[in-house]
Amino acid sequence: MTILILGGTAEARQLAAALVADGLDVISSLAGRVNSPSLPPGRVRVGGFGGADGLAEYLRGHQVSSVVDATHPFAATISVNALQAANRTSTPLVRLERPGWHGHPRSGSWTWVANGAAARAVAAAASTPFLTTGRQSLPDFHPWADRDVLVRLVDPPTAPLPQRWILIMSRGPYSYAGERQILTEHAIDVLITKDSGGTHTMAKLDAASDLGIPVVIIARPERPQVPHLETVAETIAWCRSDDDLGFVGRSIP
Ligand SMILES: NC(=O)c1ccc[n+]([C@@H]2O[C@H](COP(=O)([O-])OP(=O)(O)OC[C@H]3O[C@@H](n4cnc5c(N)ncnc54)[C@H](OP(=O)(O)O)[C@@H]3O)[C@@H](O)[C@H]2O)c1
Repeated sequence: MTILILGGTAEARQLAAALVADGLDVISSLAGRVNSPSLPPGRVRVGGFGGADGLAEYLRGHQVSSVVDATHPFAATISVNALQAANRTSTPLVRLERPGWHGHPRSGSWTWVANGAAARAVAAAASTPFLTTGRQSLPDFHPWADRDVLVRLVDPPTAPLPQRWILIMSRGPYSYAGERQILTEHAIDVLITKDSGGTHTMAKLDAASDLGIPVVIIARPERPQVPHLETVAETIAWCRSDDDLGFVGRSIP
């Protein structure tokens, strides 16, 4: 029994650790975007598969018995590929995705938008925005070379940032006090983020809301319909279960 975890998230690492500790054969797959990723226990492979065809080939070649798509909520392409590859090879597939921030008590006061360009449009009047939307979204905001944008990234940007922008390189989790200090020190007048969900990066939302700073939040992309679990514990139970009703039809305990 070989379980392929499509990873790149803390949940994927936790899942791999738990399954390896259980004695299961686990391969974690990483896209290879991050310079020095925290590697999960068990086997690890790095790099794209070459689309759905390549992934299907990989599943066959490595006799993968089930796939957990534990990729980030904003990584949409790999999830479509995973569904297609699972379909073609009749491999059970489940999606592990942490809940988003829609349920946050203040979420009704935030402006929800579909993408980076829409976020820039609704925050057009801001003079000192705080951007925590990730490295891949930065081109959407490059027209803001005329203002003092504070950007926080985990990895260095792949292209030079506009001269006026200030870069903070750090990795969460972040505290409420620390986030409040950043918002105040830089006189931030809008927080632009994306609905990553979870608690590691949530404090900025509370801090901004308490300070009366508007929050613009990019909603998660559309996803293929795949059985969906929200916690690592539920996914461990699914992986241990031998209740196999066919590829994505395998029941959720
Ligand atoms: N997007 C985010 O905001 C974000 C944030 C934190 C972490 N991540 C992690 O970073 C990775 C890339 O994100 P993305 O938004 O670029 O994804 P994406 O747009 O869904 O994927 C683009 C391509 O990257 C390859 N890929 C993505 N995830 C992979 C994985 N786990 N293993 C092997 N190949 C993978 C696939 O290439 P092939 O078609 O060649 O197979 C895929 O078609 C994901 O694993 C995700 O979990 C993303």
